[in-house]
Amino acid sequence: MSGVRAVGVVTRGTTNPNRLRRMDRWIAATHAWQLRGAADPLAVDLGYGAAPWTAVELLDRLRRVRPDAEVAGIEIDPARVAAAQPYARPGLTFRHGGFEVPLPGGRRPVLIRAANVLRQYDEAEVAAVWDRLRARLAPGGLLVEGTCDEIGRRHVWVALGPEGPRTVTFATRLASLDRPSDLAERLPKALIHRNVPGEPVHAFLTAFDRAWATAAPLSSLGARQRWARAVRELRDAGWPVVDGPARWRQGEVTVAWGAVAPG
Ligand SMILES: C[S@@+](CC[C@H](N)C(=O)[O-])C[C@H]1O[C@@H](n2cnc3c(N)ncnc32)[C@H](O)[C@@H]1O
Repeated sequence: MSGVRAVGVVTRGTTNPNRLRRMDRWIAATHAWQLRGAADPLAVDLGYGAAPWTAVELLDRLRRVRPDAEVAGIEIDPARVAAAQPYARPGLTFRHGGFEVPLPGGRRPVLIRAANVLRQYDEAEVAAVWDRLRARLAPGGLLVEGTCDEIGRRHVWVALGPEGPRTVTFATRLASLDRPSDLAERLPKALIHRNVPGEPVHAFLTAFDRAWATAAPLSSLGARQRWARAVRELRDAGWPVVDGPARWRQGEVTVAWGAVAPG
């Protein structure tokens, strides 16, 4: 244990192998330049849960971009920290802590990933937690905070820099998607209660469903083609889509935070 009181509360430890693959791949693909340029290539998997699989996998995926990357798994439940120790190896450590993100030697991470952690807190707590985590980042660092289903088929996350929220990414296994608003149940805490008429995220998902319906004739070419056409239509309608076809083909779309932020 760190000896300092960890900030936060112990919550359910549900996790699964490969659950966070969509988030990991997005980080490695879209922030490769940041990872490669980082003076200290340390990432934090905050709240890794009852088993440390997501931290192990994050390290593997980051090392494809930055071979000397390191991951520190930080968990607020001391029993889960003890259970993870057999998985520790050079470049992969597990420590007790919370939103204060304790790291030895005053290190500041280039990445903090908090998946399925804030979902169990109150919406009113989110802004302060974001502020606290952003303040721990290295200059130019990245905070990714979001939610997914048990096996990672549906995922929504917010990306923040030291300056504040930047984007929201919706990522899904297209073969199991009925319509884009299926992702609403996996919105991060900052947005999950805002999917109601009058709120920007509701307007976005409604427009996305409409574009998806319009793109239905492309289904014969596959769900990827249909998704890409629907995203293009959203972009043409003025939604600030910040990524392009290479990501759309993965069943992703990223939009500027300001377009979906609570009204
Ligand atoms: C549902 S699990 C998520 C596990 C993994 N991140 C995943 O997505 O599969 C949430 C974990 O976050 C931990 N947690 C909650 N608040 C925390 C905090 N403030 N700091 C560190 N860990 C925290 C809980 O103890 C729990 O083990």
